[in-house]
Amino acid sequence: MSVAVELRGVSKSFGDLPVVQRLDLDIEAGAFVSLVGPSGCGKSTLLRMIAGLEDPTAGTVTIGGASPAELRRTKRLAVVPQQPGLLPWRTVAENARLLLEVNRRHQPADHPDPLELLDEVGLIDFLGAYPHELSGGMRQRVALVRGFALGAPLVLMDEPFAALDEITRSEMRDLLARLLERHPATVVFVTHSISEAAFLSDRVLVFSPRPAGVAADVTVALPRPRPPELEDTTAFVEVCAELRHRLHGAMYGATS
Ligand SMILES: Nc1ncnc2c1ncn2[C@@H]1O[C@H](COP(=O)(O)OP(=O)(O)OP(=O)(O)O)[C@@H](O)[C@H]1O
Ligand SMILES: [Mg+2]
Repeated sequence: MSVAVELRGVSKSFGDLPVVQRLDLDIEAGAFVSLVGPSGCGKSTLLRMIAGLEDPTAGTVTIGGASPAELRRTKRLAVVPQQPGLLPWRTVAENARLLLEVNRRHQPADHPDPLELLDEVGLIDFLGAYPHELSGGMRQRVALVRGFALGAPLVLMDEPFAALDEITRSEMRDLLARLLERHPATVVFVTHSISEAAFLSDRVLVFSPRPAGVAADVTVALPRPRPPELEDTTAFVEVCAELRHRLHGAMYGATS
């Protein structure tokens, strides 16, 4: 289950500071779209507007025909933040079930079973463990499960793996790809990692420095499913090179 996201003339300013300017963007249902761009260009602000956590100064965001506020209200939108934000007094299983418990009214009948999700991310032996007993990577796996437990058709992620070491980070990336094969959703994903964006995405939007505008819209045509060995292929290396080139162009104005 997934939904399309539509931005029309979206602008955002904080006081005199324009952060996003007249942005039109269509994200097709079921797509995995990454946002990359220089630090401070407005990626998180954009994601927060799609999440309904921040209102645009002008323009509209529509998700499957509804407003972000409506999606939030009916719990059809999940946000996976950079820090896992688990409740320290609840076990792994209890943290994973949290959103289902507090949203009984809007639980879709076909939401995934949190225990099955925990099994899929390799945490079945840690159901009774508390967050302080887990490694950083394990905590972020619980946060991923929590993001998927409502079966939301739109999942928004802001650098979810940025705090992890490189090896754990690529494990998380593979886990996320596998989770999405079983539990499809539209995903908007902010990252500073070119290879992460290339590996996961159907499409990568490269943003210009603030105020954010789309400097390049790159389709990643690599076949799915994408096994970890994909990284060693020429096709993958070429996608990364193109993204790096586009990012460099967006930042320093180089032409292709
Ligand atoms: N609540 C706020 N109040 C005032 N200014 C803000 C607020 N949130 C963001 N900004 C400003 O908006 C600009 C864009 O910030 P944003 O967090 O969207 O950038 P980003 O692209 O996510 O950067 P990074 O890659 O470093 O996370 C920055 O100049 C920041 O100072
Ligand atoms: Mg950010």
